[in-house]
Amino acid sequence: RQPVDSPLYPLLAAAADYYRQALKSHPTRKSAVEYLKGRGLSGVIARDFGLGFAPPGWDNLMKHLGGDALQQKALIDAGLLIENAENGKRYDRFRDRVMFPIRDSRGRVIAFGGRVLGDDKPKYLNSPETPVFHKGQELYGLYEARQANRDLDEIMVVEGYMDVIALAQQGLRNAVATLGTATSEEHLKRLFRIVPSVLFCFDGDAAGRKAAWRALEATLPNLQDGRRARFLFLPDGEDPDTLVRSEGTDAFRARIQQHSQPLADYFFQQLSDEADPRSLEGKAHLATLAAPLIEKIPGSNLRALMRQRLAEITGLNGEALQHMATAPAPNT
Ligand code: UTP
Ligand code: MN
Ligand code: MN
Ligand code: MN
Ligand code: MN
Repeated sequence: RQPVDSPLYPLLAAAADYYRQALKSHPTRKSAVEYLKGRGLSGVIARDFGLGFAPPGWDNLMKHLGGDALQQKALIDAGLLIENAENGKRYDRFRDRVMFPIRDSRGRVIAFGGRVLGDDKPKYLNSPETPVFHKGQELYGLYEARQANRDLDEIMVVEGYMDVIALAQQGLRNAVATLGTATSEEHLKRLFRIVPSVLFCFDGDAAGRKAAWRALEATLPNLQDGRRARFLFLPDGEDPDTLVRSEGTDAFRARIQQHSQPLADYFFQQLSDEADPRSLEGKAHLATLAAPLIEKIPGSNLRALMRQRLAEITGLNGEALQHMATAPAPNT
């Protein structure tokens, strides 16, 4: 997945050191320290996640690591410097931001996310794709979660950096985040190699609900019998960060136990919202939507049970549903 060796790794590690050091001692660090404190983070958690600060200014990192033209070229390849296409001028990509190093499964820094301290846009700036960073494959916090707990039994998937860190700070050290991309089959494949159970907990807003359905779709082809996925939907306007800080660890844990929905329940509930099974037309539509998705499940027991459930809801028999799942779609 990642090159075994690359000159970019030591460069990224040196940048992470620089940012971390800047959070401790740069003359302008105060705003960043206040910001992190304001979000309830402790020094311990900042250390565990290697948080740092990119000071304001165009060339702090370049001056620190820049060296000769060759070195600057490598910094560009690492996504740390940007070269202006017109005038060839080079400058730091990350300026005046709190820095979140993104680590691979071996703990090597491969990229960064940077958050503005205020309300500027974009709120988060991420490293571009580089030879060592393919953002569609990585999960923020996976390395840290495994470090904190050698025998994880469930991993929680959330949307953002701050969700992962706030949960960890509250003692829930099993959260990971996709990096501004949808949860992919590749992500799930990776997670199920580590744990038998995945819990999705996205923001309580329209984007979060959409992300949940996409996560379900990415999960289906990975659902061997013995694996499970569940979904926790949060109250409107909340994300895991705001909620775990306001209600505390015990209440959040209880919420997971009492309110997370097994994948199959969410599946039929969501499809019944889209196609009302009280009418025959709705039943027909629901079957059309559900049947091909159910056939993606590799676990034969779960697949059979979901077919059966669909048959109960729609009144269609198994054979008709099977046909529907495999027949070419009619013109719509
Ligand atoms: P959110 O907009 O929900 O941000 O985006 P958040 O994590 O709650 O932000 P805070 O709490 O105000 O700090 C969720 C995730 O989407 C990605 C980031 O990974 C973010 O953590 N994102 C968001 C970006 O990559 N760029 C953006 O401009 C915004
Ligand atoms: Mn690669
Ligand atoms: Mn959101
Ligand atoms: Mn948030
Ligand atoms: Mn959020």
